[in-house]
Amino acid sequence: MGSAGEVSAAEILAPVRAEMEAVERRLRAEVEQADPRLAPLLADASLLRGKGLRPGLVFLVARATGALRPDHITLASALEMIHNATLIHDDILDDATARRNQMTLNLKYNNEMAVLIGDYIFARAFVLAHSMDSADAVAQIGRMATAICRGEIKQVLRRFDADLDEAAYFELIAEKTGSLYEAAGELGARLAGAAADTIRTCAEYGAAIGVAFQIVDDCLDLVGQEAVMGKTLATDLDKGKLTLPVIRYLGAASPEVRRELMELIGSAAVSRGDKRARFVGRLRDSGAIDYAYARAVQETERAKGLLAALAPSPARTSLEQLADFVVRRQC
Ligand code: IPE
Ligand code: IPE
Ligand code: MG
Ligand code: MG
Ligand code: MG
Repeated sequence: MGSAGEVSAAEILAPVRAEMEAVERRLRAEVEQADPRLAPLLADASLLRGKGLRPGLVFLVARATGALRPDHITLASALEMIHNATLIHDDILDDATARRNQMTLNLKYNNEMAVLIGDYIFARAFVLAHSMDSADAVAQIGRMATAICRGEIKQVLRRFDADLDEAAYFELIAEKTGSLYEAAGELGARLAGAAADTIRTCAEYGAAIGVAFQIVDDCLDLVGQEAVMGKTLATDLDKGKLTLPVIRYLGAASPEVRRELMELIGSAAVSRGDKRARFVGRLRDSGAIDYAYARAVQETERAKGLLAALAPSPARTSLEQLADFVVRRQC
């Protein structure tokens, strides 16, 4: 148990622990019910080992705005499966070797197998979602998944692009990461029977913490510890994916410094770790990391402000804590 302001993810999700366990059972069943030749591959996808923030958001929003129903378990499980599928594909794109303290599927098998397992989990998520009593919800999950793909595609299209500005960065992370949190908030409230304005509030809350979550993730890619995060870091620079601290730094740099740093980012002769090491001190000293964190806090403060529209409850308190958690997290 941390000090007052430092609540762990498990403590934040305590009001919905039973529902989180139901998601675990649902994901375990996905592995156990698969063709026996596929089951070990799915087991390696470590579906159950994440922090569970998106399912947690679904349940907390449901509790805070109305009634938590069996469909929420299905929704949360489907969203976590989509999250898992996107991570498996993301690890191919980022050439990552560790995820959730395990070998990535692209390392353990190969890219081909990782593409296919990601596709399989993605497809299964929609089968699961379809068992909900809401065609609208399935359509929205489809739109959300499209947005994630669009965000990742934009990021690939703009690799090594020194002209990527803050506005384009925010648009891209809202799609690739914010959209899943937004759908969790919106559908969590809708399935709970909340009123239209409350549903909108929860969607906006989700989108805001999702954007903050990705800004912080991008900072941690530069300054976090692999052993704590359990995943490969420093991939963003190496893959030419410019994130907020770097965009901020480049924006204030002279043309010569910009050129020098873009050459460093693009250099195949400099290792991933060395690139990070050469950047981090400069980014820290210039205040670019602090700036990125401050932008994340702006988003989470806005998110917490939105919660004032909901009646006070233990679930609402957890949602406030979740907003703080996404900024202060180390993993
Ligand atoms: C990692 O998300 C992917 C990003 C959007 C940056 P999480 O940090 O929520 O991953 P798990 O599910 O806890 O492993
Ligand atoms: C991935 O972003 C976001 C997705 C939508 C998959 P990152 O590439 O930063 O995620 P990590 O750092 O590998 O978890
Ligand atoms: Mg990645
Ligand atoms: Mg990525
Ligand atoms: Mg990252």
